[in-house]
Amino acid sequence: MNRRDFIVSGSATLATLLASHDSAVFLEAQQESVSPKNALSNLPLLFGTDYYPDQTPENLWEQDAAAMAEAGITNVRIAEFAWALMEPQEGSFDFKWLERVVGILHAHQIAVILGTPSAAPPPWLTQKYPEVLMVNDHGATLSPGTRRFTCPTNATYRRLSLAIATAMAHTFAATPGVIGWQIDNEFTLGESARCYCRFCREGFQHWLRAKYQSLDALNQAWGTVFWSNTYTDFSQIPVPLPSGAPPNPGMALDYDRYQSAANVSFLEEQLAMLRQLCPAHFITTNNVGLVDTIDMRELYRDLDFASSDNYPGFFAIHSGSESGASAPPEVIAMTVAYSHDFMRSVKDGQPFLIMEEQSGKAGQPIFSPQPEPGQLRLWSYQAVAHGAMGINYFRWDTANFGAEEYWHGMLRHDRSHSPGFDEMQRTIRELKSLGHDALHAGYEADLALCFDPNSSWALAIQPGHPKLKYFSETLSWYGAMGASHAGVDVVDATPDLSRYKVVCAPAMYLVAQKQADRIRAFVQGGGTFIAGFRLGVKDEHSRIVETPLPGLLRDVMGVELIDYQPIYSEKQGVKFAGSLAGADAECKIWADILDPKDKDVEVLATYTGGQYAGKAAITSHRFGKGKAIYLGPHLEGAELARVLLTLIASSGVARSIQAPPGIEVTSRRTNQQTWTYLLNHTAKEQSVNVDGRYTDVLDHSAISGSIRIEPYGVRVLVRA
Ligand code: GAL
Ligand code: ZN
Repeated sequence: MNRRDFIVSGSATLATLLASHDSAVFLEAQQESVSPKNALSNLPLLFGTDYYPDQTPENLWEQDAAAMAEAGITNVRIAEFAWALMEPQEGSFDFKWLERVVGILHAHQIAVILGTPSAAPPPWLTQKYPEVLMVNDHGATLSPGTRRFTCPTNATYRRLSLAIATAMAHTFAATPGVIGWQIDNEFTLGESARCYCRFCREGFQHWLRAKYQSLDALNQAWGTVFWSNTYTDFSQIPVPLPSGAPPNPGMALDYDRYQSAANVSFLEEQLAMLRQLCPAHFITTNNVGLVDTIDMRELYRDLDFASSDNYPGFFAIHSGSESGASAPPEVIAMTVAYSHDFMRSVKDGQPFLIMEEQSGKAGQPIFSPQPEPGQLRLWSYQAVAHGAMGINYFRWDTANFGAEEYWHGMLRHDRSHSPGFDEMQRTIRELKSLGHDALHAGYEADLALCFDPNSSWALAIQPGHPKLKYFSETLSWYGAMGASHAGVDVVDATPDLSRYKVVCAPAMYLVAQKQADRIRAFVQGGGTFIAGFRLGVKDEHSRIVETPLPGLLRDVMGVELIDYQPIYSEKQGVKFAGSLAGADAECKIWADILDPKDKDVEVLATYTGGQYAGKAAITSHRFGKGKAIYLGPHLEGAELARVLLTLIASSGVARSIQAPPGIEVTSRRTNQQTWTYLLNHTAKEQSVNVDGRYTDVLDHSAISGSIRIEPYGVRVLVRA
């Protein structure tokens, strides 16, 4: 997925949500233990910058290092795009320049995270081995000369990537100042998401052999009898390139899984080597928050922590391209919050690092506005408020050449301070003063949102309606849930869910047996499960279930589907009853029509239009000690928020702070202390009511009752 698609698919969705945000229903304080993970407790504070000595004349390194130190910067991330300088020709390595700059930085007490350079192989490599080039989903071979144009399967590319990384590791394993590694750079964000070359085809066949063991099992799982696709040899299996018709959905889904696995195993080759050669260093990789082309939980499984690149300004550029004006900052903030919550959740709540944080106007040919005064600080705090342990500002200087010469850093083109420099310096000082415990504290979340790449991939293959997008659907649910200020973890429903009060699963198209078992146990144990339409349609092989929908969750939900209905020109309305009573809503793109089957089912809404008028639209089923709620209609913005917030509020979720729309409230906690972050994403001053007595740790003021937060302001409260 490229960055534009990623952004556009999301932010429009949230635009209507905000007005309905009201946390009045969550007033009761409640305390529940959140245990921080201690594995990272010996990490230094990381408030750094992304630095490009490879693009900077050597006579400036010393003054750069001195200026960084003066600004309070603790570390840099370097070298991730410097392959051509480190290996000017195959097998001949030159790290002298890098050793010199590491030495200079270390002399100024600036620690170094080294990036391995596999995201941008040099021209000698692609000239000699053109077979490493990626083939896109139209069968076209990508041209080199940029970055992220290589095949994750290709053995030559893997061998050479591992060789340069290994040479780096040998050179820097014991170099004073080097503390950790970033493998590659942003696996998820090339212009082309997946490779379809002949090596990937072979790799896919190999992977399928291991997965299915026999061709019979594969033919059965995919249903290859359809259109006479029965395979009699693994080598016949194609990849989903353009053909005469859409591909077999089981094959297409497995291909997405294979591509994810290929990237993961590419990373793991470098990881295994680094673990061996550099046992004292941490190892991570960076990505732009929630992008689904790789299963991020797999990618990060054996890394020390997740790292994320955060550019809210991109949303200002792209969120307006379909609808006119850009989304307002408080709407963009929710999309960013979703990404942060996802990055924390991929490592099960462990603190993550912001490897790149916007520091000025962001963009390549087109760039965002300069962030408003206060926003750079606010965005840094937002990351910390959602579980970040450190921030690296992208980038130290602003290049005078190259594809990113308009990517504005902490210094301008003439190396004077950028308009945001002082603000960043202040932010670094403040965040350091929060201290290690605050930055490594756990995150409080009563709610979980299910994001499963398998459902995302399967729905992209067969959306059912051209406007149905898994990412947008989960984002609009996230926006609604976020207004409860009860904290949202992003889960895939394979681990135990019992720590949550409410688990939401919009468009969970594909439900594996293990997920169904977890959800059943969660509801039986007293949890509230809220599902959206398209629940449990497919099994894990992408075959449509043979039992009434919602398939494996039929008993938990207490309903069966009468029908499912993509909506085009016909009108479908929703009339609310019982605890959801309120104005009727319009159901926009999809309706699952429900038939309450079990006696403990309460109908909370009915359809008003067409052949299904009067049929159940929203149901609630008492199951075990909990309840399972089915939202059959696709609801938008304010209506979705009203429904979800009402359901969440009636599930025993409570918070002690009441905040108006545009204010985020999050909490991080150790066993000794809770830090509550109040973030004003709007351009106007706001007031927030707090129950109890607090101290603001930033200005040491005593807080109770109604407190004010300046435009784009931040308060960090601890109990007095
Ligand atoms: C990130 C990427 C960086 C740089 C930055 C600005 O996504 O990792 O290398 O490109 O964006 O575009
Ligand atoms: Zn390939």
